[in-house]
Amino acid sequence: MNINSILITGGYGFIGSNFIRFLRKKLPDIKIYNLDKLTYAANIENLKDFEEDKNYIFVRGDIKDKSILEILYPKVDAIVHFAAETHVDRSIIAPGEFIMTEVYGTFNMLETMKNFKNIKLFLHISTDEIYGSIEKGSFKENSPLNPSSPYSASKTGADRLAYSYFKTFGLPVIIARPSNNYGPYQHVEKFIPLFITNALDNKELPLYGKGENVRDWLYVIDNCEALFLLLEKGKIGEAYNIGAKNEVKNIEIAKKIVNILGKDESLIKFVEDRKGHDLRYSVDWTKIKKLGWQPKKSFDEGLKETVEWYKNHRHWWEKVKRGEFSNFYKKYYKSEIQ
Ligand code: NAD
Ligand code: TYD
Repeated sequence: MNINSILITGGYGFIGSNFIRFLRKKLPDIKIYNLDKLTYAANIENLKDFEEDKNYIFVRGDIKDKSILEILYPKVDAIVHFAAETHVDRSIIAPGEFIMTEVYGTFNMLETMKNFKNIKLFLHISTDEIYGSIEKGSFKENSPLNPSSPYSASKTGADRLAYSYFKTFGLPVIIARPSNNYGPYQHVEKFIPLFITNALDNKELPLYGKGENVRDWLYVIDNCEALFLLLEKGKIGEAYNIGAKNEVKNIEIAKKIVNILGKDESLIKFVEDRKGHDLRYSVDWTKIKKLGWQPKKSFDEGLKETVEWYKNHRHWWEKVKRGEFSNFYKKYYKSEIQ
């Protein structure tokens, strides 16, 4: 589709910021609006290089706020909706904001869109976690959904709401269901960045349970390519799994990280398991493969590059660990709409 102007939600988060950078390379002239609430998970340094970009407009706002959407929607041809609360452990401790952001926030975005026929595509970013755990084999797009954490349950609500607005109201919705992403700019609360940065500081690596849980690790740029392909060639009303063929046990990843850094495996500490911890995620991504996508990065290569990135960006993650950004956002951040 022909895009002149796009709205990205959650563009200061991990995948959103990687996607904005990716999109700018692919489409140098389009106008990019980034609507982000700047929660603790956001990081304005992720897009520092965009400060001079006249066609990049940051708007600080909440997807739950209809009035901000009504200002932005007339200006754009497409939406990529990343904004969400994303950390499973936080959803176990404090699920309320997950329900509000994922479910109510996504509802608000879709409901508001009914009045804006100029928007040709709503690419909803869902997750492979909505299928729940699978011991053998892989889930297809039409497999039953069986989420097991408040995070994945609220993401399931959002996913199905997006579909319902296609089916019931004819909104141009496409749903992407990526597996676990990793790569530069990921918040240090997540498994791979936490283990890398702790290992760099010779701190313990808290491995849940027996470390036998399996995730299918997708390099974030490979994910960006898949999402971009869906913008161009995805079929309205369809959901697409995005996987990586990189299924690895957590314990193996922990060992790989300490080995890459030349540290001792004794840093790895087995700790109490996460409540309701899904054993294995696995999706069959034949459908998007048929559209012409497949991941390029091998896990070993991607992990080495990611370790290198965190080694070289200590100033970035030390600030995050100290909570400096959250404190700054709470005080003030200028936003503008043009
Ligand atoms: P993240 O936590 O790094 O970033 C989320 C961003 O959304 C932050 O910038 C935050 O400020 C913003 N945000 C949160 N609530 C908001 C609100 N109410 N209004 C506006 N902005 C708000 O997340 P991520 O890891 O980049 O994930 C992005 C999306 O991809 C999410 O929808 C997530 O569920 C999905 N996903 C992530 C992964 C992964 O491995 N990270 C895998 C599959 C799917
Ligand atoms: P995470 O990055 O939180 O992603 P998700 O739970 O959404 O898949 O966790 C990835 C895996 O790593 C998951 O099996 C839980 C595990 N994990 C640990 O063992 N220790 C930790 O400190 C964290 C944050 C995660």
